[in-house]
Order: sequence, then structure tokens, then C-alpha cells
Amino acid sequence: MYNEIDWEQIDLTAKAPLEGPKRQYYFMARCRELVRKEAESLGRPLTFFVTTFGCQMNARDSEKLTGILLEAGYLPAENEDADFVIYNTCTVRENANLKVYGHLGLLKHKKKSKPHMRIALCGCMMQEPLVVEKLKNSYQFVDLIFGTHNIFQFAELLARTLESRKTVIDVWEGTQEIMEDLPVERKYPFKSGVNIMFGCNNFCSYCIVPYVRGRERSRKPEDILQEIKTLANDGVSEIMLLGQNVNSYGKTLKEPVSFAELLRQVEQIEGIARIRFMTSHPKDLSDELIEVMKESKKICRHLHLPLQSGSTRILQAMNRRYTKEQYLELAEKIRREIPDISLTTDIIVGFPGETEEDFLETLDVVRRVRYDNAYTFIYSKRTGTPAASMEQQVPEDVVKFRFDRLLMLVQEHARRQTARFAGTVQEVLIEEVNKHDSSLLTGRMGSNLLVHFPGDASLVGSIRSVQLLECRGFYYMGRLLQAGASVFHVSK
Ligand code: SAH
Ligand code: SF4
Ligand code: F3S
Repeated sequence: MYNEIDWEQIDLTAKAPLEGPKRQYYFMARCRELVRKEAESLGRPLTFFVTTFGCQMNARDSEKLTGILLEAGYLPAENEDADFVIYNTCTVRENANLKVYGHLGLLKHKKKSKPHMRIALCGCMMQEPLVVEKLKNSYQFVDLIFGTHNIFQFAELLARTLESRKTVIDVWEGTQEIMEDLPVERKYPFKSGVNIMFGCNNFCSYCIVPYVRGRERSRKPEDILQEIKTLANDGVSEIMLLGQNVNSYGKTLKEPVSFAELLRQVEQIEGIARIRFMTSHPKDLSDELIEVMKESKKICRHLHLPLQSGSTRILQAMNRRYTKEQYLELAEKIRREIPDISLTTDIIVGFPGETEEDFLETLDVVRRVRYDNAYTFIYSKRTGTPAASMEQQVPEDVVKFRFDRLLMLVQEHARRQTARFAGTVQEVLIEEVNKHDSSLLTGRMGSNLLVHFPGDASLVGSIRSVQLLECRGFYYMGRLLQAGASVFHVSK
């Protein structure tokens, strides 16, 4: 394991090991030397700053980057006034790309006054050849560019960057490799994401993820369980299992294991109090999973079940492989089996060819399912996906009008669903001291709702019972119950 490595023992005069984590440890040791020398010549420690632009999976990748930068001897900085700045990018919608270019503009100025500064870009956007071309031509101040498939090589790439003044570009088209045992630095001491699979095979026609994250690969259950045990020993009580479609976990393993079976095994791990997962594709959600959730003492009563559209015709064009009726049936079954569940979703408005009638079908599903929350997106054309070349792209003003109506309906339901917990006592994981009022703590319920209540900072990281006193739209104000106080309703 990497945390048992004695860096001084690695012989840097020898050749680098050819592959595996050992090769990366060798380069980490090399980075330590390079960083130490540069810090010496500047007369101060070097600093780094990592920004995540994407989803939970990107956030988890950023923790891996951070782990390596810390091992290399960099200290964390508060902002981009750092010696090493790395952007972990997302390209799921055009907006995500625009944000990165905006930030890069600002970095260009910073680097002018600080020539030794290094700028790195990685993540999903880098998997697009046109993006890399543009960066090469117009953003020559960037020092390192790599993609999603070779992120495990970061130590090696960092060493190459620190040793050269030329831009290092290394983007792979794909990989079968899953490298275990690399350093990772968690953002929160008490909760953590855990990758259970990488990539996606679903090719929803609007989505770029399969092109930039490659084919689906599951981690071996024993590696996942070992990681979770280590996290539990390290004080983590909540984990979120991560994958683009967790319901198809394990299908491609030599010895196939279902996601439900994996959950059963995770449930056994002592010290883990709460289990979450993301994301569930409705087409693969099994009865076995519902059963496991229902019986579990640890799986949070929250399911994120992306709808995308309520129109069967559009769902077909999106290649989602379920109909409106199948989705409704599934949502109903889940609510019937697990009545206290919170359901959330993702919805896209303005997919090519979407008519007013199709859109009304989406509103109909929102009304019937009564989502606790929904993330709503305006369709964004992604070059290279089948939907990008579909005719009948919907005009912007029409999309905007639909989007506003959808948002209103979603919020109306979210408010109503949130209010249903008023007066109850919930177990919450206390995540932080409230940013606006330091006399308050902020806790997250199993349903994913937040509650703010008076309390002491020393409680951050613990799971406590909180009574929900006042619903304020999408969150609550509450009161901490003393351990052992009488409770009339506790839910996970
Ligand atoms: N794997 C997850 C989603 C990952 S992307 C799943 O299948 O649910 C997160 C969300 O971004 C998607 O659910 C979808 O609603 C949205 N999204 C993806 N591509 C998009 C696009 N081209 N335009 C707008 N929204 C998009
Ligand atoms: Fe994209 Fe569909 Fe894969 Fe989700 S399941 S990442 S929406 S292709
Ligand atoms: Fe974005 Fe990549 Fe996640 S495109 S949504 S960061 S998988």
C-alpha cells in the first residue's frame, strides 16, 4: 500500500519500474526531489490548487490528483494564486467547456507575472481532439494536458512537466487498466466517494460521456470492499458508490457480481453507517436492488433515477431503452416498497424533435412521480454524438419557455415533498459549520435534505438525531436532540 512507502528508499539513480503502481511511486519520489529543489531556490514551499468542473466522478479523480500533489510536497493554496494549478474539466454540456476557457483567460494573466507557475488541464474535455487542438494553438501557456484514461499516471506526467519547459500532452484513446493503490486525499474526513466502475456503454444519443470516459469497466468487489474497510478504519462513516450506471455493475467481470450483491457485502462493513450510490439507469434497476434497499439498515432512503424525458418517442430517440409507462411503473414500485424514499431525477429539455406534446408528457411524469428534487438541463449539442446531427433542433426561445415551466413545476413538488418531513426526527450526518452563521451546524439527512441547527463545531463528522422544526422551502431549521432523548420517528 502506498501509505507504507518510505520515499527515501526509492533509488532515483536506477531506472523507473516499467509499469504498475511501483512506477508511479518512483515518479512520486522524483517529484518530491524536483519540488524540494524548486522550493529551495524560491525560499518558500510550493503550493497547488485543484478545481473540479464535473460530476462526483470528477470530484473523486480530483482527490486522487490532490493525494499525489501532497505526496510530491506541494501545500494546498486557497485559490489560483498557486505554483501549480490544475483544472479537472467536464464536457457534458457546452457551458462546462465555456467555464474552463473563461478560467484559463484569467490564469494567462497570473502566469505573466509568475513565469515559474505551472498550469495543467485534465478530465473529460481533454478527451476531445478538437479541444486539444484549440489549446495547442491558442493556449500555449498551458504546461500539461492529459485525459481521463491515464489519470493514474499523474505522478509520471507531473515529473515530466517539472523537468521540461515544453507543454506535455498525453491523452489516451482508451484503456482496460484500473490501477489500485495510489494516494488519494479526501475532501471530507467523514465521507467519501468510492469508484465501483468506470466508463459507460449506454450511448444515450445526446451524451458525450461514453466517448470521453470509454467502455464500462468494473472494479473487482474485493478491491472495492478493501478500500471501504480502509476508509472505515480511517473514520469515514458515509460512502457513495460511484458509476455512470451502477445498476450494471459487475456484468463484465470474469466472475460476474450484481450491484445488489455488492451492496449486501458493503453493508457488512463495520464502521460504515450510511451507503449512497450514483447513478441508477432505470432500464437496469432490478427487483433485487429494491429488495436490498428495503432490508438495508445503512442504504440511505434516496434514489436518483434520471428520467431525461417523459415522452416515449423522445426516450426512444435518446436511446434510453425504457418507455414512459415502464418508468412510471418502476417509480411506483419503488415508492410502494420503500414508502419513505426520496426520489430525485435529471431532465433534459429541448432534445431535437421535442414537441410541445412531448414536453407535456415530461410535465406529466413530474406530476405523477412527485420528485423530491430534479436537476433540469437545457439540451446541449455535443459534437460527435448521434443527437448532434439530428434534424429539428428546437429553437432557443421555445426551449427556454419549456425550461421555465418545468422548473416551476419541479420546485412546487420539491417544496411539497420537503415539507412532508416537518416535525419528524431525522438522523443527520453533520457536515460543517454553517457558512453564513457560525453558531449553526449543517447536517445532511438520508434523503439528502439539509438541516441547519445550533450546535458546537466539535460535532462535525458525527451522526446525530435532529428534530425538524421549520421547513424553509428546500431545507429545514432544526434542533439537536441529546443522545438518548426520546424520539418518535427516526429514519435513515
Ligand atoms: N450516467 C448518468 C448521467 C451522467 S451526465 C445517467 O445516465 O443518468 C448527468 C446528466 O447530464 C444526465 O443525466 C443528463 O440529464 C445531463 N446531460 C447529459 N448530456 C447532456 C446534453 N448533451 N445536454 C444536456 N444535458 C445533458
Ligand atoms: Fe450518458 Fe447515458 Fe451513459 Fe448516463 S447512461 S453517462 S446519460 S450515455
Ligand atoms: Fe462531466 Fe465527465 Fe462527469 S463529462 S459529468 S465530468 S463523466
